[in-house]
Amino acid sequence: MRKLNGNVFAVGAIDFDRRLFDKLIPTPDGTTYNSYLVKGSEKTALLDTVDPPKLDVLLGNIARANVERIDYLICHHAEQDHSGSINDLLTIFPEAMVVTNAKCKVAIVDHLDTDEDKFIVVDDGETLSLGDKTLKFLNIPWVHWPETMGSYLVEDKILFPCDFFGSHLATSKLFVDDFGLLYESAKRYYAEIMMPFRTHIKKHLAKLEDYEIEMIAPSHGPVYNKPKFIIDAYKDWTSDQVKNQVVLPYVSMHESTRIMVDHFVDAMIQRDIEVIQFNLAKTDLGKLAMSLVDAATLVIGTGTVLTGPHPLAAYVCFLINALRPKTRFASIIGSYGWAGKMPEQIQNLIKNLKVELIEPVISKGCPKETHLKAVDELADTILAKHKEINIA
Ligand code: FEO
Repeated sequence: MRKLNGNVFAVGAIDFDRRLFDKLIPTPDGTTYNSYLVKGSEKTALLDTVDPPKLDVLLGNIARANVERIDYLICHHAEQDHSGSINDLLTIFPEAMVVTNAKCKVAIVDHLDTDEDKFIVVDDGETLSLGDKTLKFLNIPWVHWPETMGSYLVEDKILFPCDFFGSHLATSKLFVDDFGLLYESAKRYYAEIMMPFRTHIKKHLAKLEDYEIEMIAPSHGPVYNKPKFIIDAYKDWTSDQVKNQVVLPYVSMHESTRIMVDHFVDAMIQRDIEVIQFNLAKTDLGKLAMSLVDAATLVIGTGTVLTGPHPLAAYVCFLINALRPKTRFASIIGSYGWAGKMPEQIQNLIKNLKVELIEPVISKGCPKETHLKAVDELADTILAKHKEINIA
C-alpha cells in the first residue's frame, strides 16, 4: 500500500513475473494491476480491482489502509485484469455497489456473471460524492475496449484513466522517476494496445484539455505526478506526423531475400533514412509495433513458401494490419523459387493500412545485378516520397 496523497491510496499489485498478456503481447518488464482507494469523509471508493491471482495482495493493501467498509467499487473497464476480482470483493464487502457505465455493466455481467442488482449505472460527466471528495466520470471508449471510462477526482485533480496512458512496467516505485525507461514502456504499450484507436485517442486528449490534471494514475505502471510528460508523448504518437524512418521486418530461408535486405539497408543509410530491421525468426513483436508508431514507410522482406509469403511474414502482416499504424508508404522485397503470388497476398494482408504501395522488387532465386539495381531505385523512390511530405 502506498499513498498518492492524504486519503488516496495505491492498493493494487505488482506482477514482476508476467511475460505475456493475452497469450500475445510480450511484457518483458512485467506489469502492475493498479487499484486505488479513495477515502472520503462519508464514503470510500475502490477504483478497479486486480487480476484474480493477485487478489490477496489487494486485500492485504486494503487492510493496511485501515478500511473496513467499501461503499463503491468503481469499475472503469471490464477486462479481467481490472474487473476479475469484483465478485470476490462483493462477497467480502457486501455493502459495496459496482459503479460503472451501461456498456461496462453489460460486459461485466457477460464475463463475470455479476449480480445485476449490484450496479449503479453512471453516465458520462456524472459525479459521485464521497463527502469531501467527488468523482466525476468520463467515458473514454476504445482505449482499447468500447466500454472504458475514467474518473477524475475533482478536489485532488487526479485523473484515473484506466488503461489509457498505462505502461507494462513492474516497479515498486509509485511515481515515475526514470522518464527514459517509462517512455519506452509507455510507447510499447501504446503501440501494442492503443495504436489501432488513434482517432478515438486524439478526441480523448482534446476532451482532457478541459481538466486541470496534477496527477495521472493509470491502471498499469507507475503514477505520473508530472502528467505533461505522458500527455505530450501521446499527442506526438497520435499525431498525423510521421518520421524519416523505414521499418523492415523480413524473413529469409535461403539467403536470397537477405541479400536484398542487406542491400536495401545500405541504400537507406546512404540516403540518410533511418532503417529499423527485424529478423522475424527472432523478433520481439512489441519492439516491432513500437517502431511503427512513427515510421513513414514499411517494407516487408520475405521469401516464398509454396505460393505465398513465409508464414512468419504473413503473421506479422496480419498483426500490422490489426495495429493500423499511420505509415504512409509500403513496399515488398523478396524472392521465389519457381512461381507464386507472394506480393499480391501480402498486399491483401495489409489492406487496413492507408498506404501508397511502391512497386515491389522480387527476384527469381538469388538476386542478380538487375534486382539490386531495382532495390536502389526503390530506395530512391522512398527518399522522393519522404521529401514530398517534408520529412527527408
Ligand atoms: Fe489492462 Fe484492457 O486491461
